[in-house]
Amino acid sequence: QATLKSLAAAKGKYIGAAADNGELIDPRFQQIIGEQFHSTTPGNGMKWDAIEPRQGTFNFAKGDEILAFAQSKGMTVRGHTLVWHSQLPGWVANGNWTRETLTAVIENHINTVVNHYKGTLFHWDVVNEIFNEDGTWRDTVFYRVLGEDFVSLAFRTARAADPNAKLYINDYNIDGSGPKSTAMFNLVQKLRAEGVPIDGIGSQAHLIVGSIPSSFESNLQNFASLGVDVALTELDIRTSTPISEAKSQQQLLDYKTTVGACVNTPSCVGVTIWGFTDRYSWIPSTFPGEGDALPWDKNYNRKAAHDGIVLALGGT
Ligand code: G3I
Repeated sequence: QATLKSLAAAKGKYIGAAADNGELIDPRFQQIIGEQFHSTTPGNGMKWDAIEPRQGTFNFAKGDEILAFAQSKGMTVRGHTLVWHSQLPGWVANGNWTRETLTAVIENHINTVVNHYKGTLFHWDVVNEIFNEDGTWRDTVFYRVLGEDFVSLAFRTARAADPNAKLYINDYNIDGSGPKSTAMFNLVQKLRAEGVPIDGIGSQAHLIVGSIPSSFESNLQNFASLGVDVALTELDIRTSTPISEAKSQQQLLDYKTTVGACVNTPSCVGVTIWGFTDRYSWIPSTFPGEGDALPWDKNYNRKAAHDGIVLALGGT
């Protein structure tokens, strides 16, 4: 059977899967991700708390390990993520900052991290999850001290540090039309008009079986109409566990719909799944009783969901 990456490439798209450092010691994981996917995203290894746990002390071990693994498999890497309120070390989150001092902290973090990986990563999620569900700004240290300006600061700093990486703004629950998607659309429109170097919008796409927004594809195309690239950056489609046969068939359709929406959108460059095997997923610990969200099961058997991706990519 054709691999996911060969099918995706024939459609002009990449297909990726997130990986965490602990998973890399699993030979089955290594083998399948290398065989099936073009790219990976570190699940945790390039976040602020991993890379700069204390001010000015940088530790690239986890990120470098993922990058080296990816390179050994001929895969590329999406950097994730530079400015995010979560997995942010206490020294940043609780610091007593002024506009000047927090600006310097953000600049130093982005300069150091983006420069370290310069020329090796194809995308960066520069800012992540800045909106509330109603489209207002999330209350974070960045917003409290700098207002909206932290976004343009982050993008301009990242662009200067690596002119070749595509720079993304990334969020969840922007998968269908609604106030959060409208906020994203309006912000990117405004910042691009001001010359802020935003290349793409990442729709994380953490979804629920049977509940794909009916506007999923039109929403993606609406983002693309801004002249940016779009990507599905963290796709998974969860359900109550263990998944039933009926839910499996629905999950097949849901993967076909979501991956198919990217295939149908010329500016959609690719899809990253947030892992690929139910053996390793963030969902059961966050949503007890839910999971089974990925295209391979815990024992590395392909699920119906896998066939949904194949069908979306034009395979049989
Ligand atoms: O590293 C510590 C380890 O030292 C400790 O012993 C262990 C005990 O719980 O925890 C480890 O940290 C965990 C970390 O993953 C690394 O495994 C955290 O508890 C756990 O909360 C963390 O979860 C990650 C989550 O982001 C946190 O926000 C998930 O793996 C990761 O998949 C998930 O990814 C996010 C994206 O970055 C942004 N979008 C949503 C997505 C899903 O939540």
